[in-house]
This record gives sequence, C-alpha cells and structure tokens, in this order.
Amino acid sequence: MELNNKVAVVTGVSKGIGHALCRQLLNKGMQVYGLGRNNAADLAHENFHFMACDVQSSESVKLAFTAIYKEVNEIHVLVNNAGLGYFGNLEEVPEHEWHEMFNTNIHGIFYCLKHVLPQMKKSQYGHIINIASTAALEGMPMVSAYCATKWAVKGLSESLFRELRDFQIKVTCVYPGSTKTDFFRNSPGIKPHDYMLMPDDVALLMVQALEMPDNFHTVNLEIRPLQPKGPKK
Ligand SMILES: NC(=O)c1ccc[n+]([C@@H]2O[C@H](COP(=O)([O-])OP(=O)(O)OC[C@H]3O[C@@H](n4cnc5c(N)ncnc54)[C@H](OP(=O)(O)O)[C@@H]3O)[C@@H](O)[C@H]2O)c1
Repeated sequence: MELNNKVAVVTGVSKGIGHALCRQLLNKGMQVYGLGRNNAADLAHENFHFMACDVQSSESVKLAFTAIYKEVNEIHVLVNNAGLGYFGNLEEVPEHEWHEMFNTNIHGIFYCLKHVLPQMKKSQYGHIINIASTAALEGMPMVSAYCATKWAVKGLSESLFRELRDFQIKVTCVYPGSTKTDFFRNSPGIKPHDYMLMPDDVALLMVQALEMPDNFHTVNLEIRPLQPKGPKK
C-alpha cells in the first residue's frame, strides 16, 4: 500500500509501540487517528488526530469511530495495539485484572473491528494489524492470564485473515518478544533493558508490512531479540 495520504487508526498511542508507530506513519504522510485514554504531547502534528477512547468500552469505541467517519470516508489501516499485562500465579490474579486484560486486549479489538469491517469490505481494501505477543505462541508460568488474552488475539487474527482475504483486506498478526516499553510496570521481576526489542524497530516492521504490494500479504510477524539477556559470556 502506498501510505501517503491514506488514513490509519491506531489504538493506544500515549507511549510504547503505538506511539512509535504513529510517528512513523505520520512521517509517511498518513492521516493518523489515535485512539487512547491519554495523548502524547510529542505527537502534535497537523495530520495527527487524537480521539479520547477507552477501548474496553464499546460505547467509547463507537463514539470515536463515529467522529472519525464524520471526517473521512475510508479508513485504510487499523492497528489494534492497546494492551496490557498483569502477572502472577493464576489463583492470585484479582478478577478485576483478569477482566481488564480481556476487555482491553481482545474485546477492544472486537469493538474496533465491528466499525471498520463493513466499510473495508465495501471498499474491498484495507489492512488490519493486531498486536499479539510471543505469549500467544507458548505458555509461560505466571503469565497464564495474559497468555490467554493473546492466544485469543492469535485465533481471531488467523480466522479473520481467511475470512477477509477475498475482500482484498489483509490481516497481519504481530508477535513481539520483550520490547523496551512501559509494559513491564506491572511485572516486578522484569525491568526494561537495552537487549530487548526497541519499539521503533517493532513499528518499522509493521510499516514495512503495510507498504508491501497489494497481492503480497504478511500473515504473521514473529520477532525476537537476538541476545535477550545480553552477549554470551
Ligand atoms: N512491551 C512488550 O514486551 C510487548 C511484547 C509483546 C506484545 N506487546 C503488546 O504490544 C502492545 C503495546 O504495548 P507496549 O509494550 O507499547 O506497552 P505500553 O508502553 O504500556 O503501551 C500500551 C499502550 O496501550 C494503551 N492502552 C492501555 N489500555 C488502554 C485502553 N483501555 N484504552 C486505550 N488505550 C489503552 C496505553 O495507554 P494509556 O495507559 O496511556 O491509556 C498505552 O498507550 C500491547 O498490546 C502489548 O500487549 C508488548
């Protein structure tokens, strides 16, 4: 897809991977609508439009997309990035954390898709990127609740790819390994460090997938740091 002058919606833009992606899409000349609970001051740009939105709420998502479709006829790219993780032994995971993860990581994607799919199917054009995690590919102790949400993202994405390919709509699922963002704030055992993936590099890979020719489709992107704990001693 030629990105210049196209319209992208990205969820979760205040920091991390979503924030890095917005900056790169703006540099490519896209109109970017950022859906989030918080904005980021350094995203101020004539082509960046922040929409206050909590993706856990279908009503909040509906209001955001209604406002966007008042300004544009067509959304070409949707990146479902908003997400969070809480960690611990399953029986100790509070119910509100379980629900916040499912409401954000998977229900939020469903709510957003409901608004763009009818239009993308009519246009017979579009690219959806869902951000899962390597936690969607393997079970991990203390990560079971978060893994469950991301396995759901994987199942949704793989099914949707097959459901939408004949409408010329691409669905790409991204599986990043540990990335140096604020994501680990709820994980006392892990501190972000320089051997993790960088949010700008994860964003760059998504931009490259978006820019591929129309009949070339990247279904899955599994990305991991080469030396996750630093150089071998
Ligand atoms: N970092 C990693 O190691 C890693 C690895 C694999 C996958 N991922 C996934 O990558 C995605 C981005 O994470 P990140 O690493 O960039 O983490 P991050 O720095 O914590 O950023 C997460 C973003 O999501 C937003 N968000 C969270 N809940 C939201 C809600 N209910 N409504 C709207 N926005 C919401 C946050 O905004 P506010 O909190 O400001 O509202 C923030 O902008 C997530 O889906 C995460 O699961 C991360």
